[in-house]
Order: sequence, then C-alpha cells, then structure tokens
Amino acid sequence: MEDDRSQDPRPGAAPDGAADRPSRPISRKNVLKAAVAAVPATMLLGGVALARDRKPVDGPLTPTPYCDDGDDPTPPQIEGPYFKPNSPLRDSLVEPGTQGTPLTVSGFVFGLSCTPLADVLLDWWQADDDGAYDNTGFRFRGHQFTDARGAFTLTTIVPGLYPGRTRHLHVKVQAPGGPILTTQLYFPGEPRNNTDPIFDPALLMNVRDAGDGKEATFDFALQVSGAAPRSRG
Ligand SMILES: [Fe+2]
Repeated sequence: MEDDRSQDPRPGAAPDGAADRPSRPISRKNVLKAAVAAVPATMLLGGVALARDRKPVDGPLTPTPYCDDGDDPTPPQIEGPYFKPNSPLRDSLVEPGTQGTPLTVSGFVFGLSCTPLADVLLDWWQADDDGAYDNTGFRFRGHQFTDARGAFTLTTIVPGLYPGRTRHLHVKVQAPGGPILTTQLYFPGEPRNNTDPIFDPALLMNVRDAGDGKEATFDFALQVSGAAPRSRG
C-alpha cells in the first residue's frame, strides 16, 4: 500500500501535483479489511506494538500503511485541509498564543530490516484545536529529520476534530532517495475511530497523559531495506 514513487522533493516537502497518488486505486474497504486482519486483537484492545520491540526472529517489519483522506495533494481549485509543500523546518508546531492540549509525538523510523534510519524527512500537518487547517500560512505545518539514532520528536497540540473524520495527524515520511509514505496517525479511544472509514488501527499511536498534555509514540517502518545514506544531496 506504499506510495512507490521515488522522486526527491527534499528539502521539506513532497512535490505538488497529481503524481502524489498511489499507483493503483485502493478501495478504503479493502484497506480497512487488510489492516484489521493484520493487527492482533490484543493490540486493538491495549497498547500498540512498536517496531523497536521487535525481535530478530520475528522477521522483517510490516511497512507502515499508506493512508489518504483525499486531501493530498492540493487541488488548487478547492480549499480544504490540504497538504502544502515547503513547510518550515522545525521540531515544534507550537507558536506564541497556540491554544490546545499539548502533545509530543516521538518515535523511530526503521527500514524493514529494523535498521534505524537517520535523516528521514517527516513533514507534518494537522488541524488546529478547532479542527481547522491553515491553508494560507503554515500554522501546524512543519518538517523535521530523524537524528543519527533514527529518532524524532515533534512538539504540537492534540488536533481538533472536523466533520467526517476521527482525530488524526498527517505526515509524509521519506528516507533520503526513498519513496514517500503519506499517512496519518490516530489516537486510541476516540469514538469516531469506529465510524471513520479511513481509520486504520495499524496507525494508532500509544498515547498517555503527561501533566496537562499528552505524550504519544509511534514507530514508522519504511520500504527501505537498510541504513539510509547520510548525504542529503
Ligand atoms: Fe485531515
């Protein structure tokens, strides 16, 4: 289900244009079916398995699924919750006066062989506390890169809800020279997870309370076999 294009939008964003679609149509029903089948019932009820906890005997990682709610890429004639290229480089989407519940999202990006990948682009965008996207500026939009350990931490707020969708974060993830994974991350325990046809339990984060905010973790697994090259070209 990955997006198998391999052009290089770096730095900071995937390319604008219709090419940012999966190479073959995927019905949402089939995506859901496959995702539910792939996730053991225990994972759906409790914590979410993280790629970092895999053992060598478990074999290769399952790639993080592609997930698209139709707001990517930006059709120029329609205003909506769309991806915008050229987001600012930053580890925090919180700005002076930002309203909302503080949220940190941290994790690792792995290749399928469990190798942590450095210099992986993560380009985030999300709704604000009221469920609105900034389509004129770059509020709640930003990109960052994994460090030498393959780790990332994003500081933001819990995204608000908007009609028709459960709570989610958008992200494009790309190892240097690798394909772009366009996907979304979800929050456990959200009532709309049960009704949103795009929701995928394989994309649930582990989320816990932390002070007056939340701490979430998620590990990505990219369709990259080994360590990513360190050069950003
Ligand atoms: Fe969205």
